[in-house]
Amino acid sequence: MSLEHLAYVSSATGLLSEQALKSLLESAARLNGAHGVTGMLLYSDGNFLQILEGSPAALDETMARIHRDRRHHDVMVLFREPIAERDFSAWKMGLRILSHSQLTEHPECIPFFSPNYDASKIVNPKSEALKFLLSFRSSN
Ligand SMILES: Cc1cc2nc3c(=O)[nH]c(=O)nc-3n(C[C@H](O)[C@H](O)[C@H](O)COP(=O)(O)O)c2cc1C
Repeated sequence: MSLEHLAYVSSATGLLSEQALKSLLESAARLNGAHGVTGMLLYSDGNFLQILEGSPAALDETMARIHRDRRHHDVMVLFREPIAERDFSAWKMGLRILSHSQLTEHPECIPFFSPNYDASKIVNPKSEALKFLLSFRSSN
């Protein structure tokens, strides 16, 4: 089966409570389980960075759902490309809510979590986003 991964950034329509994020995650994980999609969702202060992995058709369907969801806007895809294997095979969808200090420890990633994401502020968005997402893979 051919596999792809895709990452995007977006901004929440309003600030989301931890409870609201958990319920979003529950429906995302349920849908992902049904469609063979895995990945990780990071949230910081009203902004999202998410990576998705799956078949091209599953990613198309998932992105259509994600674009329709009114809980966020300004969905901007950072990259989409074929992969040999999954990085997040254990996660129907992981969620990490980042504290301010977790983000300031990685100043190179702050632009991902700013409203009106500006790609020109990051030299290599793909490798920075991947490195950052992977760093949360095994943390609690
Ligand atoms: C930040 C964010 C992340 C999301 N992640 C996923 C996801 O990983 N998989 C998915 O199928 N839908 C995802 N969604 C979409 C919602 O889960 C989906 O729109 C909701 O459950 C309603 O689904 P429906 O449009 O089929 O009614 C996401 C939505 C937002 C706002």
